[in-house]
Amino acid sequence: MTKAKWTLETTAVQAGNRQGAHGAIAMPITLASNYRHDGLAAARDFSPAAGYSYARLATPIRRVLEQNLARLEAGQQAFALSSGMAAVQLALSFLRPGDEIVALDDLYGGVFRYFGYLAEHAGIHWATWDGHEIAELVAQLTPHTKVVWLESPSNPLMKQVDIAAVARAVHQFDPAIKVMVDNTFLTPVYQQPLILGADVVVHSATKYLSGHNDLLGGAVIVKDEALAATYYDYYLMTGDTLASFDAWLLLRSLKTLPVRMKQHTANARYLAAHLPELPGITKVIYPGVGGMVSLTMASAALAEQVLDHLQLISFAESLGGVESLITIPYYQTHADVPVETRLALGITPCLLRLSVGLEDPADLLADFKQALAPGDEP
Ligand SMILES: Cc1ncc(COP(=O)(O)O)c(C=O)c1O
Repeated sequence: MTKAKWTLETTAVQAGNRQGAHGAIAMPITLASNYRHDGLAAARDFSPAAGYSYARLATPIRRVLEQNLARLEAGQQAFALSSGMAAVQLALSFLRPGDEIVALDDLYGGVFRYFGYLAEHAGIHWATWDGHEIAELVAQLTPHTKVVWLESPSNPLMKQVDIAAVARAVHQFDPAIKVMVDNTFLTPVYQQPLILGADVVVHSATKYLSGHNDLLGGAVIVKDEALAATYYDYYLMTGDTLASFDAWLLLRSLKTLPVRMKQHTANARYLAAHLPELPGITKVIYPGVGGMVSLTMASAALAEQVLDHLQLISFAESLGGVESLITIPYYQTHADVPVETRLALGITPCLLRLSVGLEDPADLLADFKQALAPGDEP
């Protein structure tokens, strides 16, 4: 694993410094799609250690970004991709027909959509686990299981899983099963799954890693060299790489990740403490850390009223940015999950998912107050 020389805070701030030409403090962006070869031997070297030849293989800015992502997640190698879903696809790219996945039953809906695609087109099947008894997860493992897929906290119900205990139990059953964690919600600032025993970390970098609602990206981080080599081949072949400009923006955003995450948490804690005091909010689910809060409204009509009347918080998909956003997972992120599954899990038309931004939390609370009683304000 890449041993960070400094704490996570220092590593994040120093991202790119001392790595660009001319002593540039901010890593310069290189937009070239191709690079002159230094001779035939160089042209024939496709290894990650080789120089640059063609942007699908590597670019200076993406390489520095990937080194920093690997350091922050305590991994061996990172891959920066064009979206979180591209990262999910890379993470599962080694699966073959007949292989099985066991996954937490509450995940970003797009991941379930992809599991459905794999079942239909590639003969890769999945089973779900409710996140409670680890023995029940182990009971689902078979000689065909190749992947255990987790989110913690999960999207949108905030289920929390003991990643270390799951990794121990799964690897005891079969050390070859890869435990994969989508770490989008907590980021390495609050959770480093590879240190807890997981094998692969996935991110939608569109969310907290970039943090400004201005780019689409993904990342896969691994600690095992053999798996990194398998992923590298697939990554070069399929070319779902992050463009240079977005890689530069993401590298820049990583510098403030720890500071942003701490303030997201402070703001979310304030709202989680005060939202239950408001009429019409029947339940607030907050895992105690991070910026994501889910809330149940007294009725679907009230949920719609709040979405219609919020003036500061934007009714928009996505999460993890400095601007607060609110979504209704039943109709948006989880619309493709069968309706009976959604309702059984608690993803109903009354459930709203709030991504608490970096505005003054008192202003955010006041926005909820006026949306719950529109017309009361002078
Ligand atoms: C937890 C989680 N994982 C993965 C994804 C997919 O990422 P992207 O939208 O960047 O493809 C999302 C998107 O909302 C997500 O919330």
